[in-house]
Amino acid sequence: CGIVAYIGHRQAYPVILKGLKRLEYRGYDSAGIALIQDGEPGQNPHLAVYKRKGKVADLEEFLAGKNLNSHVGIGHTRWATHGEPSDRNAHPHLSGSGRLAIVHNGIIENYAALKQELLNKGHVFASDTDTEVLIHFIEDIQQHNQCELEEAVRIALRRVVGAYVIVILDADHPDTLIAARKGTPLVIGVGRGEHFLASDPSPIIEYTKEVVFVNDYEVAIVKADELILKNLGNERQTPFIQKLDLELAAIEKGGFDHFMLKEIFEQPDTIFDSLRGRLDEQRGMITMRGVEEYMQKFIDAQRIIMVACGTSWHAALTAEYMFEELCRIPVEVEYASEFRYRNPVIHPGNMVMAISQSGETADTLVAIEEAKKAGAIIFGICNVVGSSIARASHAGAYTHAGPEIGVASTKAFTAQLAVLCMIALKVGYEKGTLSRERFLHVLHELALVPEKVKEILQQHENIKAIAEKYASARDFLYLGRGYNFPVALEGALKLKEISYIHAEGYPAAEMKHGPIALVDEQLPVLFVATRDRFHEKIVSNIQEIKARRGRVIAVITEGDEVVPHMADDVIAVPAADEMVAPILNVIPLQLLAYYIGVARGYDVDKPRNLAKSVTVE
Ligand code: G6P
Repeated sequence: CGIVAYIGHRQAYPVILKGLKRLEYRGYDSAGIALIQDGEPGQNPHLAVYKRKGKVADLEEFLAGKNLNSHVGIGHTRWATHGEPSDRNAHPHLSGSGRLAIVHNGIIENYAALKQELLNKGHVFASDTDTEVLIHFIEDIQQHNQCELEEAVRIALRRVVGAYVIVILDADHPDTLIAARKGTPLVIGVGRGEHFLASDPSPIIEYTKEVVFVNDYEVAIVKADELILKNLGNERQTPFIQKLDLELAAIEKGGFDHFMLKEIFEQPDTIFDSLRGRLDEQRGMITMRGVEEYMQKFIDAQRIIMVACGTSWHAALTAEYMFEELCRIPVEVEYASEFRYRNPVIHPGNMVMAISQSGETADTLVAIEEAKKAGAIIFGICNVVGSSIARASHAGAYTHAGPEIGVASTKAFTAQLAVLCMIALKVGYEKGTLSRERFLHVLHELALVPEKVKEILQQHENIKAIAEKYASARDFLYLGRGYNFPVALEGALKLKEISYIHAEGYPAAEMKHGPIALVDEQLPVLFVATRDRFHEKIVSNIQEIKARRGRVIAVITEGDEVVPHMADDVIAVPAADEMVAPILNVIPLQLLAYYIGVARGYDVDKPRNLAKSVTVE
């Protein structure tokens, strides 16, 4: 979920609305806003709540033409956890008396017990959410203890189990917002006579670059011209004001139809950015401070555990091949959510690498916290600077792909691969498991990637035509071997995410042991069949599919003269070392998924049911 709030001299509604649109990547199944409206002359200010199932644009349409005059308000865009997406479950939620309105991101794990307590006292709830329970609970404490709202919030939060960011609006105190966080991020923008609160800086940067990242267990008391931070024990904390290094253009569409397309096309630059200042071909070296500090730990590591979710998990799987080959360290790739609850075997000094675009994925964050408790060293690979996972790690490397807004991850993935490859090269070389010659060769191949990506992008018309041909398919199979197996998984995931076509990724050889039963003349099978050690083997796999009348689309190496005779459609990419080939080979699959999603008429930037950052476990 995403949260925006404003207090100051501007009209609150437009600021909040625009901010919510920027945060829709965090969820978009309902949206809402609460304002203290100035009212007509002679009337008192009053609290008004507007909320709607659907995207922020639906809320905007619903509110068009309404008088929304106000200088303080809170807003929310939701990704449902408790209660289906609906008008009544949309935030903000009101307290029992209707005096307090709250927006909340996160989950209150012990809400059922709190709800029962309140039901016994006669509270009546208008929604199925844990959030409404929390605001009733806070008001109940305030009434019972006859205390200030901020004190009631502190008492309530000491009883709450779970992760949250909350912002509360009090109809009786329109000059103050109360906010708090634990586990999920909250940023406060500090302006002149105004404050902006949001889940990340994107709704804020157009107004001010001075921000405060609120820490866990802090409560913020925010007025137009004053910001007070306290801990849950009521002690004042000094707000640490940081200056943001982020330009507005970096989060706008810049002429492309969708963020996803813009981000796919940005990849020559973003990959270059992740290599920049690190990969030095002339001197034949890689500089990465985070890795250097922990080099001995890497060299001594008996094993490496990689934890991640979604697309980042596919990057981890590719890295497993890289690390095992170059560093001869056994690697285990884990879904963060499974790892955490399995009582995993972790020994002090084990190396755990956490890979996350957002750095906010709750499953990954909790997994590394558990591993840390067991004495592991956490190495974070995040895209978002200063994100929760980056801060929870002992060391790490940023991917530097810039803000990724499209929900389906593209440029963050290729940047992850580039960074992971550099780390594996560096560690393998220092450890002595990799020859100078192979080190220099892969280094050179990596340096060539941005230019080769440009070449692939020039083929977008060809890929679009293929996409349109297959857009009505019901299922899809994606196959690859070796380094191209994770690429197949990622291609299938992209297609599922934005075209809602059922797609499966499989190791090409394993296909014989099951999925081959699906093959008929209806089924498109995409092969990632660029030239590598397994090329002949995968050519045989293509024949096995053709023999069963499947339709084959193949990603091949330029100059391949064999596969084009067998496949129905081909996309050729420049030749590359097999270790860096995944960075290239995934690009046509991103474009294919994008154009199929568009051809089917879907909103590819905001696929149904998904969220860019899943900040709940
Ligand atoms: C969500 C997104 C995926 C993403 C995954 C992990 O499910 O929809 O695109 O890969 O989270 O996100 P992270 O930010 O940790 O890489």
